Amino acid sequence: MALVVKGRLQALVFISQKPQSFDKAWLESLFSLPELSRSVRLNCLSGRSPGDEAQTGPVVCACFNVGQASICQAITQQKLSDYQQVGKVTRAGTNCGSCIPEIKALLAQTAKAL
Ligand code: FES
Repeated sequence: MALVVKGRLQALVFISQKPQSFDKAWLESLFSLPELSRSVRLNCLSGRSPGDEAQTGPVVCACFNVGQASICQAITQQKLSDYQQVGKVTRAGTNCGSCIPEIKALLAQTAKAL
């Protein structure tokens, strides 16, 4: 959970059933930014630093820490055609649902590319 006031990070809390490792220096640096961009907010909520994105892409689903590349890979490799299928495979979109429009956009983009 993040508390952002006028775009600036004020507090950050992570609660997990499993031990997690975070890039503490990166998280601390966020408190000095004058404003958090959307992508930084998603990274912040998932606890993933931008360096972690190299493999899975920018975070799309903050609830389950699922990146864009992971979703696109699942769509192409498993021939997924709707967001419910993406959710079953990656868990993206199966909690709060705020990432579903982005998942639908990735489905449309990937369908065009095939
Ligand atoms: S952000 Fe994807 S389900 Fe909440």
